[in-house]
Formats: sequence, C-alpha cells, structure tokens
Amino acid sequence: MASSAPPAPAERPHAVCLPAAAQGHIIPMLDVAKMLHARGFHVTFVNTEYNHARLVRSRGPAAVAGVPGFRFATIPDGLPPSDDDVTQDVASLCESTTETCLGPFRRLLVDLNAGGPPVTCVVSDVVMDFSMEAARELGLPYVQLWTASAISFLGFRHYRLLFARGLAPIKDVEQLTDEYLDTPVEDVPGLRNMRFRDFPSFIRSPAPDDYMLHFALRITERAAGASAVIVNTFGDLEGEAVAAMEALGLPKVYTIGPVSLLAPLKGPSSTISMSLWKPEEECLPWLDDKDAGSVVYVNFGSITVMTNEQLVEFAWGLAKSGRHFLWVIRPDLVKGDTAVLPPEFSDETAGRGLVASWCPQQEVLRHPAVGAFLTHSGWNSTLESMCGGVPVISWPFFADQQTNCRYQCTEWGVGMEIDGSVRRDAITDLITEVMDGEKGKVMKKKAREWREKALKATEPGGSSRRNFDELIRDVLAPSF
Ligand code: UDX
Repeated sequence: MASSAPPAPAERPHAVCLPAAAQGHIIPMLDVAKMLHARGFHVTFVNTEYNHARLVRSRGPAAVAGVPGFRFATIPDGLPPSDDDVTQDVASLCESTTETCLGPFRRLLVDLNAGGPPVTCVVSDVVMDFSMEAARELGLPYVQLWTASAISFLGFRHYRLLFARGLAPIKDVEQLTDEYLDTPVEDVPGLRNMRFRDFPSFIRSPAPDDYMLHFALRITERAAGASAVIVNTFGDLEGEAVAAMEALGLPKVYTIGPVSLLAPLKGPSSTISMSLWKPEEECLPWLDDKDAGSVVYVNFGSITVMTNEQLVEFAWGLAKSGRHFLWVIRPDLVKGDTAVLPPEFSDETAGRGLVASWCPQQEVLRHPAVGAFLTHSGWNSTLESMCGGVPVISWPFFADQQTNCRYQCTEWGVGMEIDGSVRRDAITDLITEVMDGEKGKVMKKKAREWREKALKATEPGGSSRRNFDELIRDVLAPSF
C-alpha cells in the first residue's frame, strides 16, 4: 500500500489490534494501532472489559470514544467482575485469557465482519496467542507483537535449554543461593554473558508445574505459527538477538521500534491515550524550574509491588542523596497495603521532592531536568529512558526485567543495578555515582548515543521505519 494517498474508506484494510491486558502491553500496541491508522487502516482496538471500565472511570467516556476509522471493542477477560482500579494478578490473567477468550474473540471478529468493513488482518500480543486460532479460521494474516525486548524473548524461549542442562526447574527456593544465581550460562544462542539470575524470573519457581514458567515457554514457542513477529526494538540495539529469534524457526521478525517514536504525533489518532491511571500533570511544570540533569526520577511501572519496608529504604536512600526527585508511588505499589512514608521524610526532603501517583512518563524522561531514572527495567521504561538519553539505576522486579537489567548494565552501558535487598545506603551511593561519578558520566554519554540510534532507526529511511513499510506491504495489506 503506497504511503502517500490513503485508499478510500471502503477499500481500506481493517486491522484488529489485540493487546495483552496490562499497561505495559497496551501502550506499545496502541502506538502500533496508531501507526496503522495513519497509514489508512481501519483499526479496531480490543480492550478487556475490566480495563475499558477503568479507562471510562479514570479518564471519562471520551477516552475510549475513538476517532473516525479507529474504534474500540471489548472482550471479557474471564476473571470475576470487579470495580477495582488495580493491576490484576498476572498469572491469573494469563490463565483466564488463555482459557476463556477465544470464544468471545471469535464472536467479535464475526460481528465486526457483519457490521462494518471486513477484518483483513489481526495484530495480537504474543501473550494473547489464543487469537491465532480465530485468525486462522478466517484465513487472515496474523502478526504477533512482542512488546518486550528480543533478549527477553530468547530468555523465555531458552528455558528449555536450562532444563536440558539440569539448571532448572529448581527443587526448592533454598537452592537459589547467590552462588547458584551467579552460575554462568554459556553458549546461549543470541545472548551474551548470561548468569542463571539474568533469565526471566519465572525460571526461579520451585513448582515444576508453575503456570507462568510454562506459559512463557509455550507462547514463545508457538509464535512460530504467526505470519510475522514484530518487536518493539531497533536493529542497532538488538539485531543479534533478533537474528537468533529467526534462527529458532520464527517467521520473519521485524524490528519496528521504539514505536513511541514511530507513532504519529499529529493527526486524528494522536490524541488517543490509554493510561489506566490519571497522570498528575503538575509533574512537568515542577520539572521546568529545575536545573538540567538535576532530578532523580523514580518509577517502577504498573505491576511492581514492594513491601512498606522496601519503600522506606527507597525513601531514605533518596532523602540522603540530597538530590531533587520525582517519585511516582502508584496507589497499589505497596503489597496489600497503603504506602506509608516515614513522618520525617517530608521535612527532610522539603522543597526537593515531588511524590505523585502516576505521571506522563515519556514526557518526564524527555525533560532536560531528569538526570537519572530509578526503574524496575520494564521494557517500555528501558526504551523510554534511552529515548530520553537518561541513565538508569535498576531494581528489576520480575519477568523480562532481570534480562533487561543485565543488558543495561553490561552490554548497553546505561545502567547500574541495586542489589535485591534494597538498603538505603546502597541506594544513596548509586544515585551519587550516577549523578556525579565518573561511571555516571560514561553512562550518560552512552544513553545519549542510544537516543541518537533510536532516532535514526525511526527517521525516514531508518531501519524500523523501513521494516514497518515492508510489514504492511508484504504481510498486513499485500492486496491493498
Ligand atoms: C510490564 C512488565 O512489567 C514489563 O517488564 C514488560 O516489559 C511490559 O509489561 P510495566 O511493569 O508496567 O510493564 O513496565 P513498563 O514496560 O516500563 O511499562 C510501563 C508503561 O507505563 C510505560 O510506557 C510508561 O511510560 C507508562 N507509565 C508508567 C506512565 O505513563 N506513567 C507512570 O507513572 C508509570
């Protein structure tokens, strides 16, 4: 399909975009949906009923009203109905969508075909791979989006290799000593310098039938059945890992990221936002009068939870650093409880800190005042920090984050890791090193180099932009 003159409405291809039902998956899928819409596709974006209701509650019905040619649809996620505004349990959600969503998704495709422009392709999160069957039944091109890093895809997929080498499944948690976690795992296709601890966290489960361990392995193996796989990454960053994905029998793998840079900034769909919490807009003006590179930004994404003791260690670590900080404490950040900061914390940090419940993160990370990012190394946060040229202090929580953290620290040169136990002095030392130290300077330089490379990949003629064109031409809309 030529990029210049969009086809007449009736002739347009119609993509159904199916994200996994979590914030870190919805955001990149929305960018892909916007990219398709800007290229003349009709788009139907499928939310779970739970998330759709959250958006209506927190952002108002206009948030999901859509724009011409871009509409929303819903399917149930299979979990008991709830009016909560919290991140759902990941394992329960993966299990319930896998077990229950095929029927509703199939019916949705039938309804869409009956009531509007026929569906011509499905773009599904790898995590929602029940959709493969529905797309196949209708003979539709079926593209899977892997929203995380290529290295983490390999990390999950190579669980089988860890089984074969007798390193997993582990027998009990006692086995997970520091020595065991540090075991080097050599000759892992597509991955470098890996230790057992750097594989996605589900491999640490002592339960031989752990749901997430087998789910992650299954979906990364089943991705071989897609028409193509797209990854939110770019060639300079993860070319080696992407080649290793293809060598594992996947269909063509297209790097099309960072999608946040490829998604249109103007045009009808550009205003659609799918933030499950309401961002506190005062974060940006608060940053405006801070010196360049002077603020530590702290945010652990949408799923991480911690104990209140850990929260207090972070609080004192920040306080003792003497730095300005913007700290996002999500309402459900502290496990099963309300976050309680020490009473002296606000006096101690008066005039230096802003605590918010959610923020416009991409803008925050592009703000010149931000000098370091204390993060859980979720993949979106990893890419967004690179796009902002900001080095990171990483406290990986679960899933792919361990692998991302390893690469941030050892391969990409942009990160330092907090040891899992979270001690205030160690946090203060790391903040000081990244903000002021020699290592921090090198990391900042590296982060800026990655920003240039990310921009280059998404500019006209850049690899991610060309790959997206090719994906449309060869897979998603060859006959349009
Ligand atoms: C999850 C997984 O945890 C992550 O490891 C995986 O790679 C994707 O799915 P999450 O933990 O939420 O995501 O982290 P991350 O990938 O960083 O995504 C969070 C998204 O929410 C980012 O795009 C970030 O910009 C956005 N966000 C987060 C905000 O807009 N405001 C906030 O205050 C916090």
